[in-house]
Amino acid sequence: MRILITGGAGCLGSNLTERYLERGDTVCILDNFATGQRESLPAAHSAMTVVEGSVYDRALVDRVFTDFGPTHVIHSAAAYKDPDNWIEDVRTNVEGTIHVVEAARSAGVKRFVNFHTALGYGRPDALPIPVSAPARPFTSYGISKQAGESYLAIAGVPYVSLRLANVTGPRLAIGPIPTFYTRLKAGKGCFCSRTVRDFIDMDDFFSVMDLVMAEGAPTGAFNVSTGTGHSIKEIFDIVVDHLGVTLAEPVPEVDAGADDVPAVVLDPSETMRAFDWKPRYTFEQTIRRMLAWYDQHGVTAIYSHLKAPPAR
Ligand SMILES: NC(=O)c1ccc[n+]([C@@H]2O[C@H](COP(=O)([O-])OP(=O)(O)OC[C@H]3O[C@@H](n4cnc5c(N)ncnc54)[C@H](O)[C@@H]3O)[C@@H](O)[C@H]2O)c1
Repeated sequence: MRILITGGAGCLGSNLTERYLERGDTVCILDNFATGQRESLPAAHSAMTVVEGSVYDRALVDRVFTDFGPTHVIHSAAAYKDPDNWIEDVRTNVEGTIHVVEAARSAGVKRFVNFHTALGYGRPDALPIPVSAPARPFTSYGISKQAGESYLAIAGVPYVSLRLANVTGPRLAIGPIPTFYTRLKAGKGCFCSRTVRDFIDMDDFFSVMDLVMAEGAPTGAFNVSTGTGHSIKEIFDIVVDHLGVTLAEPVPEVDAGADDVPAVVLDPSETMRAFDWKPRYTFEQTIRRMLAWYDQHGVTAIYSHLKAPPAR
């Protein structure tokens, strides 16, 4: 395969790049390094090209398609760094997505895989959230990502859009797991928001990617999750246990912020049925595998697409 990965220097993109290069595929990465890092990718590889630039730059996107000639596209680029920078979210997540989708359509790619967020569902009526639940995003990231997916759906390319639970694996630098790990290790205080989320191991994400990238596989939007929700406090307790920390007092728990959703758990049953797929790792195994990776490699910069909670 000749795979173009937009946002290929990011957490998911760099893990996929590593995997495809090992498998013998040829990979081209288009990334502006807004949140991804060049260092996350192999220093050099004869089957890898790295192009620095934005998917918002239509001429650049077209040039990458002409020069590289991808057979497959994985659209992983997304803007979320500054929740108040709506324009950048629209440029990258809506216009940038349209640029990549239109170029992929002209090139006649075999498969277009897009990554979407559970925030597209907004505040769900019921849990776990079926893939048929209405789109009701209410953050700039969620709104713009939803629009990107909606344009992809009407473009007439053979596409799969994966609505992802929190994927954990090498280089994850966002969310409660790296935050608790870093703060507890440094002897700093933490708080847990009273929220429930679903987590999925990178290896389970890889196994679903292998199935959706296959020619002739089902198309459309699919939830990728274990289908089981866990509280942020459960993560905190596992990190405390992993690090062997003794707490002077119980960790404070705070209600979800106004721009947050109390519980997000995606229902993967349709994905499991359509692709005959099943996640392999339990919640606790997934968190502990992540912590073992931090023990070896450390945690890098931490970003969040949510606004910081008020100072305590
Ligand atoms: N990791 C998860 O658990 C998760 C969950 C839900 C959705 N997603 C989606 O998966 C994708 C990858 O997420 P991630 O966790 O790897 O995040 P990430 O921030 O590590 O990766 C995103 C990459 O896109 C790049 N980028 C941003 N704006 C760009 C632009 N205009 N042009 C080119 N590149 C640009 C960034 O530099 C970064 O390398 C995103 O689309 C995200 O919305 C991820």
